Amino acid sequence: MNSFTNNEFWESKSDNVSWFTDTNLNIAQTVLDKHILEGNGDKKALIFEDDQGNVTEFTFSQLVSQSNKVANFLSKNVINKGDRVFLFLPRVPDLYINFLGIVKTGAIAGTMFSAFGSDALKDRLENSGAKAIFTTKELADRIQTIRDELPELKHVFIIDDEDYISDLEKESDVFSMFHTRPEDYAFMLYTSGTTGKPKGIVHAHYGLIQQIESAKICLDLKDDDIYWCTADPGWVTGIVYSILTNLSLGVTTFIHSGRFDPEKWYSLIAKHKITVWYTAPTAIRMLMAKGDALTEKYDLSSLRYLASVGEPLNPEPLLWSKKIFKGKYFHDTWWQTETGSIMIANTPEIELKPGSMGKPLPFVTAEIIDDDGNPVAAGEEGNLAIKPPWPSMMRTVWQNTEKYDSYFKNGWYISGDRAKKDEEGYFWFVGRADDVIKTSGERVGPFEVESALISFEGVVEAGVIGKPDDIRGEIIKAFVVLKPDVDATEELKTKLQEHVKKHLAGHAYPREIEFIDKLPKTRSGKIMRRILKAKELGQPIGDTSTLEEY
Ligand code: WT7
Repeated sequence: MNSFTNNEFWESKSDNVSWFTDTNLNIAQTVLDKHILEGNGDKKALIFEDDQGNVTEFTFSQLVSQSNKVANFLSKNVINKGDRVFLFLPRVPDLYINFLGIVKTGAIAGTMFSAFGSDALKDRLENSGAKAIFTTKELADRIQTIRDELPELKHVFIIDDEDYISDLEKESDVFSMFHTRPEDYAFMLYTSGTTGKPKGIVHAHYGLIQQIESAKICLDLKDDDIYWCTADPGWVTGIVYSILTNLSLGVTTFIHSGRFDPEKWYSLIAKHKITVWYTAPTAIRMLMAKGDALTEKYDLSSLRYLASVGEPLNPEPLLWSKKIFKGKYFHDTWWQTETGSIMIANTPEIELKPGSMGKPLPFVTAEIIDDDGNPVAAGEEGNLAIKPPWPSMMRTVWQNTEKYDSYFKNGWYISGDRAKKDEEGYFWFVGRADDVIKTSGERVGPFEVESALISFEGVVEAGVIGKPDDIRGEIIKAFVVLKPDVDATEELKTKLQEHVKKHLAGHAYPREIEFIDKLPKTRSGKIMRRILKAKELGQPIGDTSTLEEY
């Protein structure tokens, strides 16, 4: 028993997960193996469609067999409990299967988005001390360039390499799953803050108890649903709501490994008769921008429940969805990598207020507080905070307890978001309290982009902000100071963008670059992104008393 489990409510939800004994559980048992014990082994678990339209399907039994092979293979390669094993893969079946294969061995599964470049990969693999990584021939180049700098990385398994395929094939499909304890770590992933390198957010097996409860309430999942969560498992949504909860609930899950394309997406909904759809506001706005006529070309009547996450869902796309999907609309949900599951949401029961994130789930205490930890009056802006602990919350920041501790103040977990709560208890998102950027729903730290920019020859320094954008929520804008002898050309902007894409990530490059002579800084030399942003938006610059000179 510990502080996460000794709660009456969660005790009463103990059956959400399968226990081996009173003190042992492994999420993979609930996600996969229990379905065989319950006689549902032949049920369709995953449907994959790739870019070329090839469809592959897996039953729960097949997922169990395949993940057991992976677990046996890893055990042979001396992967032990607590080792970090990372996945750097596109959305192919192996990503989902191997994630669970890793967890079965008692190791910690980590994911990295397939758009990451070599610097982003190095930061994550180095900090986590990853022992093994799964990748593809195509993506492996980005690992090979940094491999010498990663002494702890013992194995790079290439899933489309013939030797690997035949080795895996030889493994037994029976595996005795590691009996982890509820508080053992199950998975981790890196996320960005304002300063410094990305942080390794670590989640425990016990979190599944709450993740499942949240999925029941917020996604309304039923036994015969065909469910599509469009998020990539490189991000937390793609892990929690595209692997763990949906499969635990025995729901047939659709995965599309191809890129976003409005017409393609409608055709997939019609073809696979998707019933529950969980996606992000940027995608919804892009669909809306393509026009209503396109939606009429496809039979979208299978859709039963829609939900959205990752960034503010403004009323316009929400009301558009209500019109297009015949009264069904996207239910906004709020959470974070750190919270491990949805905390605040528009659930089916609550009456819609367009633009609101909804209300805290019944087992969540959320509040708007001032900087001293006191609740503010209804309608007033403050820090969005959650009362800890809760089962799905992060257990640590990998090798950075100081960072972990910094989230907690005055008995609250401080989310870093600014929000309001109205008289009726609905929450309204205002913005970030820090400089973290949300572009197309993805979280990007300005420091990482600045670091990538200044690693380019000819750049002296850079300041990076999120600039409001009608479709993407925000786009990344960089202010760059060049060496005196470097010409500030359009061509150089393109080169800088390519450089960031290659070294950091395909999605984290600045869509806009402006060359300036000098960055606003505090006397201690910190870049004042707030001032860059105010200038960009033509807003008053505010208090500049700590400014070096401006
Ligand atoms: C940040 C967390 C994909 C899982 C959640 C994203 C922003 C998230 C909403 C929402 C307004 C939202 C917040 C939050 N955010 N959901 N419904 N309305 N903002 O996880 O990548 O860790 O990002 O996303 O700023 O702090 P994440």
